[in-house]
Amino acid sequence: MVIDKTKKHLVANLEALERIFHRPDSDQSRMVLTKYMEQILFGLHDFLRENVGITEEISLKELASRFTSSEIAQRPAKTLTDVISEIIEEIAPHAVNVSSPYFVGHMTSAIPFFMVHLNTIVTALNQNPVKLETSKVVSVYERQVLAKVHRLLFRFNDDFYDTHVQKPESTLGSFVEDGTLANLSALWVARNRLFPSTSAYAGVEQDGLAAAMQTRGVRRVRVLVSELCHYSIRKASGVLGIGNSAVIPIAVDRNNRMDIHTLRNTLEELRRDPETAVLAVIGIAGTTETGSVDPLCAISDLCREHGIHFHVDAAWGGPVLLSQQYAGLLDGIERADSVTIDGHKQFYLPMSNGMVFFRDPNAMDAVAYHANYINRPGSVDLGIRSLVGSRSATSMVLGSALDIMGSGGYALLIDHGIDTARAFAKEIRRRKDFELVTAPELNILTYRLVPEQWRTPAALTGSADAVTCSDVVNRINVRLQRLQREAGNSFVSRTTLRRTGCPETVVLRAVIMNPRTTPDILRSILDEQEAIFQERIAPTLPREP
Ligand SMILES: Cc1ncc(COP(=O)(O)O)c(C=O)c1O
Repeated sequence: MVIDKTKKHLVANLEALERIFHRPDSDQSRMVLTKYMEQILFGLHDFLRENVGITEEISLKELASRFTSSEIAQRPAKTLTDVISEIIEEIAPHAVNVSSPYFVGHMTSAIPFFMVHLNTIVTALNQNPVKLETSKVVSVYERQVLAKVHRLLFRFNDDFYDTHVQKPESTLGSFVEDGTLANLSALWVARNRLFPSTSAYAGVEQDGLAAAMQTRGVRRVRVLVSELCHYSIRKASGVLGIGNSAVIPIAVDRNNRMDIHTLRNTLEELRRDPETAVLAVIGIAGTTETGSVDPLCAISDLCREHGIHFHVDAAWGGPVLLSQQYAGLLDGIERADSVTIDGHKQFYLPMSNGMVFFRDPNAMDAVAYHANYINRPGSVDLGIRSLVGSRSATSMVLGSALDIMGSGGYALLIDHGIDTARAFAKEIRRRKDFELVTAPELNILTYRLVPEQWRTPAALTGSADAVTCSDVVNRINVRLQRLQREAGNSFVSRTTLRRTGCPETVVLRAVIMNPRTTPDILRSILDEQEAIFQERIAPTLPREP
């Protein structure tokens, strides 16, 4: 912590503690801290310029061998400068350069540089929005930010927002850690509204699921969602006690959207069984693997007909609503009962920020909790209706980013992602060794390399192109993705699509969200894949299929 000049080693003492808890007041200590900030801002900024950092240059095994200590040293081991330098020199170079325009494999990407400044403010203020006594204006500011995103989703009129934005009894939404907790929050509310208290019992939250189901004469609870859903839905069902086998995967159509006829038939079938209750139907606005958007209007119609909670998982696609050009792709989202959005995805916020929104400002009453020391009945503490307790004030980051970017700035990012993905799809179709497996509806697409001799119309993928889906082609693409990743110049992810009526298909998955990713860069990624195939994979293949 500090160097004891007489003994020349670091010591923890009260004088040093006093110093680290005080804001710097002398010019000299200000200069020192500013120097550290420079080191952080620019030292980190330079890291991994050369490649995307998923190389095998240093194996994970080797890296793991450097971090095996499990003891906390009794004496301070490092100064702040040591720690910062060590992170910059030893950790950052082996982290992943998600900011690279050649890193197009995941939903984690570059963020505007001002996010570092905004996050620093959040840390410096260290507000805790769980209760007003530790956040005050930040809590009311947060309500305003939630109202802005709620309005983007549900488009109620001025009167609605004037009434609810700061009304203590209303909850338009809630910040949580991530999309997983946002989905869990939505289903938690839906579960409690499905099993409310009656004169016979105190409700599912109080008396538990067994009592709730017994009281309603129900033996099974179901959640209906496309077979391309994110696994957080299964997690949520596990946590909520209905079991993850309660999640019924609905087949997708040839555009990877929930098949509405299958949903209708499933709902009809379930309606005939008085012992089954449907907790929610979930539409996805931007599936994790293919970026497809379920038919939200049609799902909403069915939910209203059957009186079922309609949740939209827009963790990925939500911010598309900011684009005048593409907002229409999410038509029907405004009819949802609840919506998940991730700030750290297409709002380009730093890790991590999830949000859940409810059409009904009183929906979250179903999960209200009070405590004697905070969150007392009648208080305006945001922790009353929230899955999480203490948390950082990420609303300040989102609110500021919305001010800095405006919807116009975000629209440019969204439009760039979708337009570039479409151009990439065109390029893939143009090349004879590649097959576009799922076209981009938003800014995600999947494709694979299928050498000509391995294309046989007999084995169909179910997609428009008739090509083999043999194990060999799957293995080629597994190897191709691994070799490209290890080379470290660029990164495209890989997944295995499992869709009803289609054979298991290993695909390469591109997520285009970095505004610096250009069609030229994407062409060079395909060139690299062709070269890897020709040089490293083709020579090892049998001559004939
Ligand atoms: C559609 C969808 N929903 C939910 C999630 C979960 O989000 P998180 O990783 O923030 O928990 C993801 C993550 O990729 C997603 O794509």
